[in-house]
Parts: sequence; C-alpha cells; structure tokens
Amino acid sequence: MLTILFIKNSEVIITMCGIIGYIGTKNAVSLVLSGLKKLEYRGYDSAGIATISNKLVVKKDVGKIDEVFSKIDVSNIKSNIAIGHTRWATHGKVTKENAHPHTDCKNEIAIVHNGIIENFKELKEELIKKGHVFKSETDSEVIAHLIEEEMKNKDFVNAFFECLKKLKGSYAIVAIYEKEKKMVAARKESPLVVGVANHGFFISSDVPSFIDETKKVIYLYDGDVVVINNGLKIYNNGVEVKREIDSVEWDAEQAKKGVFKHFMLKEITEQANVIKKAIAQDDDIIKEIVDSMKNAEGIYFVGCGTAYHACLEGSYIFSKVAKLHVNVCYAHEFPNYVHFLTPKSLVIAISQSGETADTLTAIRAAKEKGAKVISIVNVAGSTLVRESHKVLLQHAGPEICVLSTKSYTSQLAILVLLAYAFVDKLDEAKSKLKELIRYIYYLTSKNTQDYIKKLAEILKDSKDIYILGRGLQYPTALEAALKIKEVSYIHAEGFAGGELKHGNIALIEKGTPCIVFTSKDTESDIISNAQELKSRGAYVIGIGPKNNDVFDFFIKVREAEEANSICQIIPIQILAYQLAILRGLDPDKPRNLAKSVTVK
Ligand code: M6R
Repeated sequence: MLTILFIKNSEVIITMCGIIGYIGTKNAVSLVLSGLKKLEYRGYDSAGIATISNKLVVKKDVGKIDEVFSKIDVSNIKSNIAIGHTRWATHGKVTKENAHPHTDCKNEIAIVHNGIIENFKELKEELIKKGHVFKSETDSEVIAHLIEEEMKNKDFVNAFFECLKKLKGSYAIVAIYEKEKKMVAARKESPLVVGVANHGFFISSDVPSFIDETKKVIYLYDGDVVVINNGLKIYNNGVEVKREIDSVEWDAEQAKKGVFKHFMLKEITEQANVIKKAIAQDDDIIKEIVDSMKNAEGIYFVGCGTAYHACLEGSYIFSKVAKLHVNVCYAHEFPNYVHFLTPKSLVIAISQSGETADTLTAIRAAKEKGAKVISIVNVAGSTLVRESHKVLLQHAGPEICVLSTKSYTSQLAILVLLAYAFVDKLDEAKSKLKELIRYIYYLTSKNTQDYIKKLAEILKDSKDIYILGRGLQYPTALEAALKIKEVSYIHAEGFAGGELKHGNIALIEKGTPCIVFTSKDTESDIISNAQELKSRGAYVIGIGPKNNDVFDFFIKVREAEEANSICQIIPIQILAYQLAILRGLDPDKPRNLAKSVTVK
C-alpha cells in the first residue's frame, strides 16, 4: 500500500505499509511476526511490534523485518495481544522514531496506521499546546496522543471513537491499550480485513498474513470500527452492524513461494492454471455483462498501470471480434472525462486489487452521473467489488509480487471470452483458450526460461530498450515496457510501430535494443519497422510466430490471434525477471512501488 505519510520542511515521505493485529489465546508475538513477513511486499524499510506483557512493550527499528527482529529479540515475550507494522519510506528519512507502532506520552497506548491524516498539523499543534510530547515526525503519532487526550474523560473504546471523529484523511488503524486487553481498529479508504480464527481474531491489511491460521474473513466497509474484547463487534456511524463472514477460496500454499525463489517467478509460471480458471467463469455472469454492453450507449474501460493495458488490449479485441467500439481511459483521467456520461453509459473497471484509489475515484465519478459500473477484479471483498453494480471475479489466486503478471493474462482471457460472447461465440472462445493452456505451460517452462536468460545476459547493461507493436501488439508493447522498467530499472519505452517515424526513431543508435512484436495481421508493417530500426544500427529482437533475417534474436511465440497478447507478454515477463536477477535486484520488492496504490 502506498501512503503519503507526512510533510515536513516541504519534504514528503511516502510509505508502503502493512499492518496486522492479533488478539486471542495463542502466542500473539509470533503470529504477528509471521504475519508481518507475509505483508513485507507492502514495505520493507522499517518494522515494529507492540505487545502487552504486564506493561506495553514496543520494539521497532529500521531495516527489513528479518534484520529488525534479528537485532531485537522478542521471542521471549509471552502475550496474547500484539500489533505490528512494516513500512517503506521512499522519499525522506527512514528512522527508528518514524517507524511504527507509535505511542502516547505515557507509553500506554500503541497504534499502527496506514493512510494520510490530512489535518495532522493542526491536531499536533493543539495537542502540543495541551502538553503532549511527540517523538516522531509522522502524522500517525497524533492518533495515539488524540486517544490519550480523549481518555481524560472516557474509556479506551469511546476515546478511540472520539479520536476518529477528529481525523481527516484516509486510514487503516489498529490500536491497543496497556490497561485493557482490547483491540480497536478502523478503516476509511485503506484496506483492512478481519481474520476469524477458532483461537482469536486478526486485523490486517491483507489476507495472506493470517491464511495459515484461518480462511474465514470479514471484509470491512469504509467507516467500520472494530472492537475486540471477548468477542468482535463492528460499528458504522456509531451503530453496531453485522458483517458477513466470507471464506477465502485459495489456501495458504498459494500465498507461499513454495519451491520458487520469488513470487514473481511463481506467479509467471501459474499462468496456465490462471487461464484455466478464467475459462471456468460462470457463463451467466458473462452473459449478463454482455447484455449490459448491448444495452449501453457508450462503453468505457478504465484502469491504471497494467490493468489499463488490459483495457486498451480489450478495446482492440472487441473491435476485432465483436466489431464494437469501446472507449478506454486511464482511471485517473476519467474524472476529467465524464461530462458526457448519462445513465445509459456503462463503465467497466479493471483492477487486480480492487483497491486502487484512482480506479475507485473513476467509478465514483461515473456513478454520480448515473452510469452503470461493472468491474473485473481479482480480489474478492475489495472496495471495487463492493461499489460496483456487477462484478466478474478473476479467480486468479493471490498475486503477491508487486508486478502484475498472472492477473494481466487472466484479464486478457476474460476480455476474449466477453468479446466472443458478445457475438454468441462464447464456446468458441473457450475452446481457443483451452487449446492454449498446454502451450502456456511450455512458454513458462524451464526451457523457455533458459533460452530467455541468454537474451537477459545480452540486455542486462542496457540503458534503454524500445518496444514496438501494432494493433493488438501495441498494448502488449506498452505492458512489456512497464514490466521491464518496474523490476530492472532499465528505461524501457513501448510505442505503436507507426509512431517510429514520427519521432522515436531519433533515439535509435548503434546497438540500441529494440523488441518488435509481430503477428500474422501486422507482419508486413511491423517488419518494415524492424528494418528501419536495423538500418539505424539497432539490435532487433523479434517476438512472434515467424522468424525473419532482420532479427538479431528471436523468440518464437505461436500465432494465437486475439489471444496473441496473452502468449507474447510471457517471454517479456520472464525477461524482466531475469534482468532483475542479473542486476542483483529483488524482483518481489521493486523500489518505490506498492502492490495497491490506495492513495490518489
Ligand atoms: O490493483 P490494480 O490492478 O488496480 O493496480 C493497477 C496498477 O497499480 C498496477 O497494475 C501496477 O501498474 C503494477 N505495478 C503493474 O505491474
């Protein structure tokens, strides 16, 4: 999760954080520590834990979770209540003081927080006037002091409620108080889920942190406040509410690396299974979505990053298969683009996490205009699922690596199904995709990986890589560039082949690596582009069904028509992974990035 944490001397500190709390009958410290490890993809600059063992004990420091807790031994602390936090400040100071948990003046209250307390400066000034002493520069610390201030005339739980009334911004908070074995939590525009185990309760940013202990979850709604004492109570707007307990459909093994060194490689190799799951979609939901598309006056696909590339790819697929025009817009641009929406418009949002703030803002803007919103989402129970009129769940399983890989190809497969269903050929789409499954196993196999490693060796010291595609391969080129730059930090730029002569060719020098996606539909034009590149000295890498003399390196990917993009992106995902490894980078934890970008 990405959160802008605080602003001091015009310095913005941005963090990606994971939070977790446990209260129950088991050893809370070890459960919170192992949960934190599974949230480490959310942040890894500093970490901390707070627990109650007679007194409140807070341990925190700078570093990755293992580093922090190898310096600080907490294994001897026996308690059944604890909270933890893992953080990564990407701009500004990473200090022990700024690490979570934060405490009040008396060190009796501890809190962990994700989000932005927008009015923290005013709150902090008021609290300082009242005698509070702050230890960190964070916005989050005001929460602990506000609770302390309110506790002058209220109990812990009511003080927490009062504190929330004063906070402006977004938050997921978990708090504990030394003198009462209670845990309180709240969410507003930041993800927070409750895990219901037979030995206690978890409150966490994400399900994998407690999946070893329970598959029963409560997805909290915005504005929900949780109080856990002997049992669990949830309030919204001051009124107690009932929330359903859901069962997570995947198991603990799926959220583990297993035999793989990194989640990225594991998720890349899961793609054949993910396509199988996509094909097994409920036909009725597909047909309902198609009906909504047929009845709509104006259809808009919205998403960000990789999900946006799926949207763009989807528009080409719909154009080709269904002869239907679908508009595509970055979700963050959509609020500037909604003026002509009517209640007959249909917005289809695509998102792996279902928590991307920009995508949520887009659908909210659409709903204000009365438009209908359908979402294609991977994470069940996410905010996007809850706020859409209709949802198609991807069932791609947990995607832990910050980079979207399997969720992308799953989205593409679903878009192929929808486009074919639009012209009453859903079964044809299913058989086409089924035929590809064995081939996708091959594309993700060790053989393919070894072959692509040779290319990675050649490209590992490149400064720039340019990637070209036409038609369906244009969005693939954009996605390929995103994959390479996110994880290897090599500058990569994707563009439509036709744009080459309109400016980009000026960048080509002797040896500049250029990747060219080819297909039966675009062959002659894209091969001309490849020749133009070659004559300027480029090192040309071809990816497609047919080799050509112009290529210095060729990766054969068989022709799969509308499903070309599913197959062709896979070698690039592998290449990006190999580049990261060869450059000594951790592919699961690329710098400055967050799995779900939950702030605008
Ligand atoms: O969870 P979402 O699909 O809504 O996320 C959208 C983007 O933030 C995401 O695709 C991002 O671009 C990834 N880092 C891509 O690998």
